[in-house]
Amino acid sequence: MCGIFGYVGTRTAEPLLLEGLRTLEYRGYDSAGIYVPEYGAVKAVGPIDALAAKLTEPVPGTSGIAHTRWATHGEPTEANAHPHQDMSGGVWLVHNGIVENYQELRDGLKMQGVSFTSETDTEVLVKLIGTLYKGDIADAVTNALAQVRGAYGLAVMSPREPDRIVVARMGSPIVLGLGTDGNFVASDPSALLAHTKDVIYLDDGELAVITADSHAVRTISTAEQREKRPERIEWDVEAMKKDGFAHYMEKEIFEAPQVIENTLRGRLITEKGRAKLGGMESVLDELSRLNRLQLVGCGSAYYASEVGRYWLEEYAGLPVEVELASEYRYKRNLPDTKSALLAVSQSGETADTRACIQKAKEHDLTTLGVVNAVGSTIARETDAGVYNHAGPEIAVASTKAFISQLTVFALLTLLIGRSRDMTQADGQAIARALEELPGVLQSVLKQAPKLQQVAERYADYRDTIFIGRKFHTPIAHEGALKLKEVAYIHAEGYAGGELKHGPIAMLDEQFPVIAMAPQDDVYEKMVSNIAEVKARKAPVLAFVSEGDTEVAQLVDDVIELPRVHPLVQPIVSTVPLHLLAYYVGIAKGYDVDKPRNLAKSVTVE
Ligand code: G6P
Repeated sequence: MCGIFGYVGTRTAEPLLLEGLRTLEYRGYDSAGIYVPEYGAVKAVGPIDALAAKLTEPVPGTSGIAHTRWATHGEPTEANAHPHQDMSGGVWLVHNGIVENYQELRDGLKMQGVSFTSETDTEVLVKLIGTLYKGDIADAVTNALAQVRGAYGLAVMSPREPDRIVVARMGSPIVLGLGTDGNFVASDPSALLAHTKDVIYLDDGELAVITADSHAVRTISTAEQREKRPERIEWDVEAMKKDGFAHYMEKEIFEAPQVIENTLRGRLITEKGRAKLGGMESVLDELSRLNRLQLVGCGSAYYASEVGRYWLEEYAGLPVEVELASEYRYKRNLPDTKSALLAVSQSGETADTRACIQKAKEHDLTTLGVVNAVGSTIARETDAGVYNHAGPEIAVASTKAFISQLTVFALLTLLIGRSRDMTQADGQAIARALEELPGVLQSVLKQAPKLQQVAERYADYRDTIFIGRKFHTPIAHEGALKLKEVAYIHAEGYAGGELKHGPIAMLDEQFPVIAMAPQDDVYEKMVSNIAEVKARKAPVLAFVSEGDTEVAQLVDDVIELPRVHPLVQPIVSTVPLHLLAYYVGIAKGYDVDKPRNLAKSVTVE
């Protein structure tokens, strides 16, 4: 989604701004631009390289703001790209988010003689600031924001005050980076890592002014000074590199064993069959008394939650509901004070998921988070939670974060289960299976060349259905989602038992089915489903347990997976599905790290 980067200091700004934008590329964008007060603005549609190509002469100046835009309203054109300026070029702004009352503000400004060249809400915002600018850009932004309703993360500069950047936040992240030869601002802390690990996260309703050697934070509504202590980012810049892999997606899939180790580190008490999650200590009592737990998330985080539901119900005896965050936020929630809301989000910034937390708070529910991005909004807004510790995920399609979300749900199942009806022996078996998982996944990853061959054979089909049962139903959905995202193949995920209630009508020689068929307690049912598919002559690729011969006789292609505890089986099954999508995507020549029309972190509704 849109990205903001800014710098004010003693170094030449332009290369820093371009570099900052490159680190934000992974979020997805379609145009970009920079503004340097001593030089002016340059914008381009397409990649950052297109913008860099326009900057042929040296750009003087040691401050500036920059933006990557992901079109929501208005085409990806140069005119719509940020930075935007006011009527006189006295105010320049980059903005993430949406101004909800822009029409009303626009009408008011028109009456004052202000003219508009676009329909964008951002143009209204910058022109409003322009009409209020009397020489102090921070005051002008403050006064303008008093009239604005909506979500924003913004950075504003004036050529009359080139040594100051004003930033503000309401619903869309803004992070200050405190450097040694200047200060930075970004919408995503990963963009700051190359320069500093000391950051200050703005909260909603805050505005900050940064100069080369100072930063000051205050509230927008009352201008009250806020003393905010810098926090240290633990990720390092090495984690953001490709390490010899062709794509981030490939690297992140191959990181799975390490990711699981990191997610589990210090959290398993195997001999007691228990889990220890520091971030949940404050709510442990409440968790053991819950009537039910509500899970919300979007995309892969939603499917991880679906797996979590199966596990928590099966092994921990806790009733669970799962909702898409975009649905939960608008539906009627029947009050139940003995439930809690758990939001799952890699980025911790997804707008729909955040809205669920607000709604749950209004109903006095305890709010919990499973979040990867440390310090992100959801991590800070929830009452308690668990960090994934998966490290930065750069590829837009979530892979390693999904694996770590499942691992966190396994830990939560132990944690909650042992405070309910899970026996110590059952807890120990799960804990041991989790401990062995990194080694198991190493062996799964060795099958990558075989998966690539299979992927190439399946790359030319237009449609496919993934089927699974029980724990593997959400995994089938996740497999289908990945194939849609990075290979643009129409793929659906189905519970195997549902096939004959509709989708089987579509099957023929040109409509392959990908079946998840490990030897678990629904294996026989899945074998019948596969037989139904083969009777319709659809090609079948099946993922089976090592040594399985029954399914192998039925289907066209087989990938064997290690036999593990049924709880961790879905984690083992996910890795090859992620590889499959990756290899199909590259076989088709697509940019798998940045699929068209998608954004890494969806901070608007
Ligand atoms: C976007 C990404 C998905 C991700 C979803 C939820 O749509 O493309 O990969 O699963 O957002 O993101 P979150 O950061 O909340 O996990």
